[in-house]
Amino acid sequence: MRILSGIQPSGVPHLGNYLGAVQQWVHHQTPDSLYCVVDLHAITKEIAPDSLRRQTIECAASLFACGLDQESSTLFVQSHVEFHPRLSWLLECVASVGELRRMTQFKEKGEKQELHRVGLFTYPVLMAADILLYGTTHVPVGDDQRQHLELAREIANRFNNTYGQTFVVPEPIYPSVGARVMDLQEPTRKMSKSVSSPLGKIEILDSPEEISRKIKKAVTDTDSVVDYDWEKKPGLSNLLDLLAAATGTEPQKLAENYTRYGDLKADTAEAVVAMLRPIQDRYAVLIDDPSQILSLLNEGAQRVRPVAQATYARASEAMGLLAQ
Ligand code: AMP
Ligand code: TRP
Repeated sequence: MRILSGIQPSGVPHLGNYLGAVQQWVHHQTPDSLYCVVDLHAITKEIAPDSLRRQTIECAASLFACGLDQESSTLFVQSHVEFHPRLSWLLECVASVGELRRMTQFKEKGEKQELHRVGLFTYPVLMAADILLYGTTHVPVGDDQRQHLELAREIANRFNNTYGQTFVVPEPIYPSVGARVMDLQEPTRKMSKSVSSPLGKIEILDSPEEISRKIKKAVTDTDSVVDYDWEKKPGLSNLLDLLAAATGTEPQKLAENYTRYGDLKADTAEAVVAMLRPIQDRYAVLIDDPSQILSLLNEGAQRVRPVAQATYARASEAMGLLAQ
């Protein structure tokens, strides 16, 4: 079983990243698990060079703080392994404009960009390259990446049918609870680094006071019946999901324990603070020594490069490019 997943260094991870992705990464750590800070994906939107540099280190430090370690699995930076963009080009010549146009993330994020970047359009092909380079069998991701995963599978199959068996067709792994953490202020849309307002998202480094304040202000509804019902009560259901994820219980069961929204909010805040405390303590130590983080990341890239290089060579030769 070869696992690969990626996260953009576009800000401190929030609860959606943690519960929807990073927690599964930590859970699935083996010597065959590869995790990637996808800086090439982060430049598909405007980001200042200094911010990108800082956030890449901070993102890696927060992943280590969440429990990843280079002994149990491998974390590396996407741009450190040059075969990602190289394979992406080959795959762009296999993917169609029509299928990329159908990607809802492109439709949503593209509309907001002043400059319509080609990179945002071809983003899912680079993601397919990330996955296919390593013979990945399983990809743990949040629910929002479903369409991108389907496309990666489609591209792998098409490539194999056209040029001969080259890529493993990957399977997604979606988490059950917390697969989709919603914005606390707009519970019908997902919590997002770029779109959510500060009150709408909880970052994993938020102080206990900030966490309590945000949960207290979370949008619910006007009647006061505690029910786990995503259709009628998205705000409340989101809180129940958070409490369930933080305490390892079932949201339906938890709903039975509460009659007042205030109590649910107080307990959810307390549980989230307790879940994040050890992560925050480890982060404070790690971020004190950025050069150590960089050297761990370099070691990660060195470890995975030979695998990427071999897959790239097979794909390019299968397409008829001359071997060197
Ligand atoms: P991103 O922040 O877009 O780089 O996402 C990193 C990982 O977190 C991906 O696997 C996403 O599917 C996951 N993720 C992002 N936002 C959410 C959310 N609100 N709920 C669940 N998972 C999420
Ligand atoms: N597109 C993913 C996201 O925004 C991040 C990502 C890039 C990724 N490459 C990947 C996830 C490969 C899994 C596998 O969340």
